[in-house]
Amino acid sequence: MIDEFKIREAVKSVLDPELKKSLLDLGMIRDIHVENGQVWLTLALSTARCPRKDAMVEEIKGVLGKLPGVAGVDVRLATLSHEELEKLFPKHPLVGLEKVRHVLAVASGKGGVGKTTIAVNVALALAGRGRRVGLLDADVYGPSVPVMLSLEGVQPEEENEAILPAEKFGLRIMSLGMLTAKGQPIVWRGPLVAKAIKQLLGQVMWGDLDYLVLDLPPGTGDPSITIAQSIPHAAILMVTTPQEVALADVRRSIDLFRKFGMVIVGLVENMSYFQPDHSGKPIAIFGEGGGEKLSEEFGLPLLGKIPIDLAIGRGGDSGVPLMVSSPDSETGRVFQGIADRIVAASG
Ligand SMILES: Nc1ncnc2c1ncn2[C@@H]1O[C@H](COP(=O)(O)OP(=O)(O)O)[C@@H](O)[C@H]1O
Ligand SMILES: [Mg+2]
Repeated sequence: MIDEFKIREAVKSVLDPELKKSLLDLGMIRDIHVENGQVWLTLALSTARCPRKDAMVEEIKGVLGKLPGVAGVDVRLATLSHEELEKLFPKHPLVGLEKVRHVLAVASGKGGVGKTTIAVNVALALAGRGRRVGLLDADVYGPSVPVMLSLEGVQPEEENEAILPAEKFGLRIMSLGMLTAKGQPIVWRGPLVAKAIKQLLGQVMWGDLDYLVLDLPPGTGDPSITIAQSIPHAAILMVTTPQEVALADVRRSIDLFRKFGMVIVGLVENMSYFQPDHSGKPIAIFGEGGGEKLSEEFGLPLLGKIPIDLAIGRGGDSGVPLMVSSPDSETGRVFQGIADRIVAASG
């Protein structure tokens, strides 16, 4: 007769695709229960969105289904707790990041909300406060930092197998875009993404930095999670827009980062209003209240509200960002305020 012991023996052969260790030994297969040939078990995943979960379930069912006496296999999915995740995927300090005091990862629910714009200008505002600042463009889908900072075609220098960041406008800068040959499409999928990012994080010699600002890929997909997990002390700066429809994505994103134990330093609302001229009333083109609503809901500080400013778009296209061309403009002062709050919060 089939029993739990035989099931355990058989299922031992199913490995975690990333760790190459037995799911059973890792504690990811649990709560095995057998009754009249029917098998129930739980597969605990690192994330509910694990792209390999179907393959793992199929393999478990395949292996157990072949055993004589097994009538059916029922796999329930669960997620690993925080403590369990820490144990399975310990965060090793990354050599290149040893002398970086604060890592600030700029995230958003989806693309096109101004994440890169904010990463670039907040980094410049922090540098304007006399801090040593690095900027890492980790947007695997479309690295746009080289365009925004006129660094297209710049190849990073190497020294003793380490990559040295480029220098521009007082920032140390590295982008996935700088590591790909010009004109070549970037195909960073699945395991490639994880590998590329770990390589970047491990090999870039940032040196002494007060802040490393990271432009994360949009959304809550694999790359954001990989990056979030790879950096021991990264805190998240969440970008949102004022309109209600955009909030669902941001909520999901905040929930996910918190689930992985990431600290969220605060929210920045972008495209908050348009100021037609100095005397006129600001116009809430995309509605209002999104930032405040999230701030209240999640107990997170709203660090600043950035207006729709044509100078931001021009700065993005010309490769000279607003915080370089007009740091003391009205919008520039909003970025300065955000930098001040970040400095105050990080001690
Ligand atoms: N506050 C703003 N005012 C005017 N244009 C903006 C503002 N924020 C972003 N943009 C423009 O919107 C576009 C998308 O911004 P970007 O920072 O690339 O977004 P993301 O990184 O989230 O995809 C860019 O052309 C940028 O110049
Ligand atoms: Mg971007």
